[in-house]
Amino acid sequence: MNTVLENMTDGVHEDGIRRAGRVLRNGGLVAFPTETVYGLGADALDQDAARKIYQAKGRPSDNPLIVHIADWETIEKITEDLPAWAKLLSDAFWPGPLTMVLKKSAAVPFATTGGLSTVAVRMPDNAVALALIRAGGGYIAAPSANTSGRPSPTTAGHVAEDMDGVIDMIIDGGPVLIGLESTIVDLTEEIPVILRPGYISREMLQEVVGPVRLDRGLISEDPSVHPKAPGMKYRHYAPQAPLFIVEGSENRVREKINALTAAEHERGGLAGVIATDESLDFYEHAAVKSIGSRDEELSIAQHLYAILREFDLMKVSVIYSESFETPRMGAAIMNRLMKAAGHQVIHV
Ligand code: TXA
Ligand code: MG
Repeated sequence: MNTVLENMTDGVHEDGIRRAGRVLRNGGLVAFPTETVYGLGADALDQDAARKIYQAKGRPSDNPLIVHIADWETIEKITEDLPAWAKLLSDAFWPGPLTMVLKKSAAVPFATTGGLSTVAVRMPDNAVALALIRAGGGYIAAPSANTSGRPSPTTAGHVAEDMDGVIDMIIDGGPVLIGLESTIVDLTEEIPVILRPGYISREMLQEVVGPVRLDRGLISEDPSVHPKAPGMKYRHYAPQAPLFIVEGSENRVREKINALTAAEHERGGLAGVIATDESLDFYEHAAVKSIGSRDEELSIAQHLYAILREFDLMKVSVIYSESFETPRMGAAIMNRLMKAAGHQVIHV
């Protein structure tokens, strides 16, 4: 398949949006920018189109898709028994990086929800995405536009690495703003439950709807406690080389990483190090990359997946990362990094 590239790095192009909308309404696949990561879109109400997404990504079919909408009123068609929380959260955070799990209506095929009777809904904060959703019929299923198991794409170039020749179209909207997938909150329980941490923190949600819990599967050390979001159980966001997180005081972390990179060098390998602007110059015997600045946590979120992809291209033999428990997005950043590392942590 020839994958068409539409350039919208300078904003929405109406003619390109019309072409992309036609592809979606004909059951095709279009990758597009959102404020979190790039999505791989298909008509969410067309089960054959939704199935194509699973095929293109190599994604297990029990892993449900998020339905993207552009206007609040359109939520009624795809949900039932909408709780009051939904409107409150929409008023506070939509369009934005928040996904709500709600009871689904009969209009949503089980192919879209991985067989579940609930549906995840989100309104992204990106002008190209909103225009595309409207042009494509109003309900666009979109997982992150990566091959299943690879880091989510934060640029159109990352999408092309995984999807060129496999999907109909890629819309380039430039690098994304946030770089980590949306916060997912389940509104079908007694109290709202966070299934996946993201830019919208637990504290921000609690200001709007009162008490919010974290899914047990997110916090439990017990591997038999499964997360409620089916996608959270897979080893995700995985770089090709083994990744270890080194935790401890600043000085000890730096010394330990240098000892490890020296040992890797001795063995004839090349270690990659995920450092920050503040620590970049300290490391030796390794390919060292800064993920961002500890003073700007958004810069760390933005670059996490790109750095993992860069180390894949460099074919490093092992990756050592500092730990990033930043104040607001730390939970989301460390959730993704821990998964990329398969929970391999070295305490010093
Ligand atoms: O920021 C985002 O949410 C991005 C952009 C493209 O919007 N999308 C995204 O989709 O991250 P994906 O498919 O990579 O992740 C969706 C997650 C999976 O972990 C999936 O299991 C969970 O949402 N999910 C979807 N529907 C669900 C449901 N009905 N109940 C529980 N979890 C659900
Ligand atoms: Mg994903």
